[in-house]
Formats: sequence, structure tokens, C-alpha cells
Amino acid sequence: MFNDGGKIILHRRELLRQVNHMKFASRLERLQDKALLNAMELTETKDVISFAAGFPSPETYPVEAIKESFIQVLELEGKEALSYCSTSGYVKLRKLIAKRMRDRFELDFKTEEIVITSGSQQALDMSGMLFINKDDVILFETPSYLGAVNALRAYEAELVSLPTDENGLIMDSLKQALDRYGERVKLIYVIPDFQNPTGRSWSAERRKEFIECISPYDIPVIEDAAYSELSFENRLERPLSFYDKKGQVVYVGTFSKTFCPGLRVAWLCAREDLMEKYLILKNAADLSSSAIAQRQMAYYLQKYDLDDHIKRVVGRYKERRDHMMRVIDREFPKEARYIVPGGGLFIWIELPEHKDSRILLNRAAAEKIVFIPGGSFYPSGVKNNEFRLNFSNMSHDEIEKGMTILGRITREYLAE
Ligand SMILES: Cc1ncc(COP(=O)(O)O)c(C=O)c1O
Repeated sequence: MFNDGGKIILHRRELLRQVNHMKFASRLERLQDKALLNAMELTETKDVISFAAGFPSPETYPVEAIKESFIQVLELEGKEALSYCSTSGYVKLRKLIAKRMRDRFELDFKTEEIVITSGSQQALDMSGMLFINKDDVILFETPSYLGAVNALRAYEAELVSLPTDENGLIMDSLKQALDRYGERVKLIYVIPDFQNPTGRSWSAERRKEFIECISPYDIPVIEDAAYSELSFENRLERPLSFYDKKGQVVYVGTFSKTFCPGLRVAWLCAREDLMEKYLILKNAADLSSSAIAQRQMAYYLQKYDLDDHIKRVVGRYKERRDHMMRVIDREFPKEARYIVPGGGLFIWIELPEHKDSRILLNRAAAEKIVFIPGGSFYPSGVKNNEFRLNFSNMSHDEIEKGMTILGRITREYLAE
């Protein structure tokens, strides 16, 4: 309680009680995932070894180069950098991104077909806003990125899970869903490269089949390319957008995983008639992305070698993946199955069908090891016998210690 000139004004608790009478939108209930929130909370606890978060490793952020870029931008173009920017984004940066996508992926987007977004998360959210009405259907390759599931779930659509195998989305299931849900299908969301959470990538064959399968329909596809450049074998597949001749695929890229997530600089590419609509939504959401972050990024791309930086990042993640695989091979029972990821940040473990990774998490958490149980990554048709392990953020010693303990706990659990 505090006193304002003798007059007592509201105690904070009283204020909170009033807030509790507020009515919240029903969409909020759809977004809560207790298993995930618990695992993330445990991550913050002292001495916990966490394979839960999906973050890039902060040790890889090029802090000095970023500092120099910011100083230069402020000295050379300080007034513009501290102003509002156009809604579509800083044109020099969009040109640099267009060139990079051409050089790396043979993608031919014009500058006008690119909008800078505040993280690719905003691009996903805007896609829901653009295409989805209540009770529409969204098809997801599953398991899938939880952030996309949540962003799109907020638009009160029916989320339908499509199964995958080691080559990507299973085409028969896509065809069946297109037949079954017909015109209700308003969006398809996929992550063809080093997918979150499984680390798997679609084969070139599957990419072509996918485009063939969807091209008779006018359904937009979100191609989330967040991990496309994090290949451990230096094998970049051509994006779906490369095969798409209709402009049906909306391509979403980000600097979060190759550079650093704190700048929140990402981009969305779409054919011009769609772009017009995306720009209306972007303007309504936040007017524009940060001008200074965009200019810093453009400066960095011109002055430094991002490809060289990515090589170093990928080298470090590959070492960590290799170490994690060695410990898994040594410590885990053979019934725990996995695919060695060719890139990205994650390993996906599958236990026998009758086992539950939430039980494993409870036991692991008691020994201060955490990960994310697989059920969190299913928009519907949840499976609970899988889990995701992140390796990018862990030191050699943490991987050794944490995975040795987790291996023993898994052996004990599977033996029951
Ligand atoms: C598949 C995928 N897409 C998008 C994002 C969001 O990235 P950002 O908003 O930082 O660009 C993430 C973050 O983990 C992700 O895993």
C-alpha cells in the first residue's frame, strides 16, 4: 500500500484482482501448452542442463562486427537509421537479400516481392491474418514448429496434422486431406530444410511431387526456410519456391539462425498481388521493422562475409551434433530410434509407441536434465512417444554429462 498525500490509492494486489475480472479472447486458451511452459521454466533453474530451448548459440554471434556496423550506421546515416522506415523495409537490404537468394538458392524474387519482417515469426502471424478465417483448415507437416502452430492457431482455424517420413511430407496424406477438406483448406505450412523439431529435410524428389500435387489448387503454401542454410554437409536443396511456377509458395527467411535473433530481421517473399496485401497487414501491425537493425544488417552484408560466418557457425553445430550422436550411440538403448540430422539445431528421438516422453521428462528433470516432449509439436493427433533435443546451445561437457544421464534414465524407463 502506498500513500499519495494522505490519500490511499490502490494497492497493487487490488489492481490485479480487478484485472482478473477482465474477459479475455477465447483464442488465448488454444495457445497454452503446459508441458512446454514447464520445460522452459526448468531451463531457467540453476544447474539444469537444458536440451529444451531451440536457440542458436550466443557464442557464435559476431558481436564486434555488429558493434562496428552500428557505429558506422549511426555516423553515416544516423538520422535515417533512427527514423521510421518504409513498411516494405530498407530497399538496400531487400536488394541484398534478393541477390543472396539468387546466388545461394537460384531463387528469383524481385525487390518489390520482398518485405522485411520483425522476425520470421511476424511473417507467420501475418500469413494467418491474411488467409485464415475461423474454422478454416490449415494443413501442417508434422511434427511442426510450435511457434507457427501457436501463431496460426490464434486465428481459430482447424489445424490438421499430415505425417512425414525421412524424405518429408507424405504425399498420399496430403492428397487425402485435400480431397477430404476441399475448399476449407486455406493454408499449408511446411519447413522443408532441417526441420524444427526433427532435423529432417525433404528430398528433391518430394519437393517436386509436392509442387505438382498442390499446383491444381489455389491454396497458398508457407515455406519456412529458417534453417535452410545450416547444412552440415554443405548440401543445400532447392527451395519449394524454386519449383513453384505459379507464385503459390510464400517464402519466409530469417537472419535469426545464421546471424543472431536479437535484431529481429527476417523477410517474406511473395508475388506482387499478395505482397500488396501483406503490406497492408504489416503496416497495421507495426508500421515498419526497426530501421536501425535493417541498416545495420545491410552494412554488415556489404562489409563482411556472411557466408564465411555461416561456415563457422555450421562447423561448431556440426561438432556438437557429432558429439551428441556419439553419446547417444554409446548410452541410449537401441529401441530409441533417431535419424542423424544433416543440419539445423535438433535431434528427434522416437521411443517405442507405448512409451511416454512426458514420463521420461519428469524423471530427467528430477536429475536436472530437460528437453521438450514431442506432443508439444503436434497441432492435432498428438503422439507422446517422441522428444526433441537441441544440441546447438550446449558445450561439449554439458552434452557429455547430460546425455549420459539421459541415456541411463531412458534405458531404465524402456526396461520397465
Ligand atoms: C521453423 C522456425 N521458423 C521460424 C522461427 C522464428 O524465428 P525468428 O522469428 O527469430 O525469425 C523459428 C524459431 O525458432 C523456427 O524454428
